[in-house]
Amino acid sequence: MVQASAPGKCILFGEHAVVYGQPAVAVAIDQRMSVTLELNDIWRIDGMRFNPGRHPHVEALKQRLWANGPPLSIKIIGTIPPASGLGSSAALSVAASAALRCAQGRQIKDDDWAEGWTAARPNNVYTGPWETVKGDSIELGAASVDVDECAILAHAVEASAQGGRASPLDSSACAHGGCIVLSDKIEPELNWLYSRKLNDVKWEVHSIKLPESIDDVWLVIGNTGIHAPTSEQVAKVALLLEETPERIREIETIGMISRRGISALMEGNMEGVGRAMSENHLLLRSLGVSCPELETLISAAAPSSLGVKLTGAGGGGCMIALTRNPKETSEAIELAGGRTLISKIAAQGMTVDLDEKSPIWNPFE
Ligand code: PMV
Repeated sequence: MVQASAPGKCILFGEHAVVYGQPAVAVAIDQRMSVTLELNDIWRIDGMRFNPGRHPHVEALKQRLWANGPPLSIKIIGTIPPASGLGSSAALSVAASAALRCAQGRQIKDDDWAEGWTAARPNNVYTGPWETVKGDSIELGAASVDVDECAILAHAVEASAQGGRASPLDSSACAHGGCIVLSDKIEPELNWLYSRKLNDVKWEVHSIKLPESIDDVWLVIGNTGIHAPTSEQVAKVALLLEETPERIREIETIGMISRRGISALMEGNMEGVGRAMSENHLLLRSLGVSCPELETLISAAAPSSLGVKLTGAGGGGCMIALTRNPKETSEAIELAGGRTLISKIAAQGMTVDLDEKSPIWNPFE
């Protein structure tokens, strides 16, 4: 049996503006998705017969990592609400990639992994509590799970499930955890991880090491329960910019605010982070991607928070509050009609949580 998990994410700065090349910042949250795999006589998912149409991400990963493999029973559990902009599908994809890879192991050729993914070794190899076990030609279990590979696979399957459009923000934040910054250029003051390209769009993916002062603040996430598809919200902003091209200034201002927020984050200046979040929200509202329900939750949270904003595509979905009083902020949001989740900032990325007798299928035999 193999089990892996990955965190959800929320966007602290730069949603929508990132579509036009400005930097965006996402942090991993405490809520996670967990995937457990076991050999079985037929394919099952959560006890039911596996229906690829209902689980497109798992199906796509199965084709990439488990083609011709024996049937599995897959269990998916998690605390990330679906379709609310918190990265549930990316977390599922990252966790499923890690579990399938762990379950399979790797072939070693010339002292290296036969299929590649070796550029960043050994830094990016998951080093859980399991020792690296090297057989003659197989690297076993958790030691064969590569964080970059899981991020790439999750990005690829997210993009195919979303008609070819997905930035790597979710997949990278859910795989690496912590704090991830996406930009259209390498940001010299940040820790650059890699470039990602999809359909002629290129992103530079960075991480930020956060100081310990983030330990006394929390994110309270307030969910409106309204589902607004990201593609519609992105199209709305695109139409606005087509009709009034000068409004690109607002997008550029969001970029400046994101940069200010990044500096405040790196300095551990949480008041500065909160101010930048609230300013970012005003611009998102003026671009037309907020909604009355989000505004109600944001107004309720503001008095007890350092900063408040919508997070993700808007039009519904979630808002976030940065606060030193998570209980008070959460109660205020709940009283205003929102459902809340509380998280620390920058949770741990993907982990392999259980690895019993892997590889459970050896495709190289
Ligand atoms: O809905 P979410 O949380 O995945 O965020 C979408 C972020 C946007 O900037 C609106 C779109 C994008 O592709 O970056």
